Amino acid sequence: MSTNLAIQNRLDFLAVNEETRSALQEVLPVIEEVLPQALESFYAHVGRWPELIRMFGTEPERIKAVMAHAREAQGRHWRNLFSGRFDESYVASVRKIGLTHSRIGLEPSWYIGGYTFTMNFIFAAITRYSYSNGISPEEGQQKANKMIRAVTQAIMLDMDLAISIYIEENKNTYDKKLAELAADFDASVGKVVDAVSKTANLSVPLSPAIHGSQESSLKDLSVSSIECVPVCIWRDSEHHRVRFRHGRTCCSAREGV
Ligand code: HEM
Repeated sequence: MSTNLAIQNRLDFLAVNEETRSALQEVLPVIEEVLPQALESFYAHVGRWPELIRMFGTEPERIKAVMAHAREAQGRHWRNLFSGRFDESYVASVRKIGLTHSRIGLEPSWYIGGYTFTMNFIFAAITRYSYSNGISPEEGQQKANKMIRAVTQAIMLDMDLAISIYIEENKNTYDKKLAELAADFDASVGKVVDAVSKTANLSVPLSPAIHGSQESSLKDLSVSSIECVPVCIWRDSEHHRVRFRHGRTCCSAREGV
């Protein structure tokens, strides 16, 4: 996966270093403490948006269960992220988020909004922690800055990866759908071409209007006649139909006949 390969580059660009990792290790227990409350408020907030509730299901029991699962999973993911390891298990987790949110159609604007919600809890907890235990204001400020910086680096990385995977997956789904449509179209056109050539061989009258004779057939027409060029091919419930340049429509035999 391209995102997997690019993670080190992203970490470097975000200037994630040893200082970041050690700040994250210190802040993790602080975050753990407020995480349940942050998640509870977040899902209560999500529950006020009907277009979001629908993503969890239609039956109240189902919605409750899926929300509980998402909440649990999100909690695990935040812990993994703020461990500062940024290892394979972290990449697998972020990948799953991108894939799941792409599958349910959760657009990035909602997802980004979701981060803001939890971030507010985390930053408030960091400020409380940094200025506690009789620490001097200068020391407190330094500590808070270090932690806020590390948390912001981690969150930006996480958002970037999850949204990149979301976009990649949306594109894969779109390409797949397009390939299926193209294959379906090819198959349909193939049948029409067969049907037209059978019609020609059976000498079905096609163009009496321009040739002035009810007896004229496609065989009778010059094959190179510009007027015999099909301009539109489509299928209705039972037949393939071809419209020729001269404006007449030819209807193929019933499908499968
Ligand atoms: C408005 C914002 C969001 C909504 C509506 C939402 C919705 C959902 C839904 C419906 C699922 C599927 C649950 C299931 O099938 O069991 C899910 C999965 C998940 N979400 Fe979100 N989500 C949002 C934001 C976030 C955020 C900000 C994160 C944080 C990183 C997150 C992390 C996860 C995780 C880890 C999973 C589980 C992925 C899996 O294992 O398949 N979500 N989310």
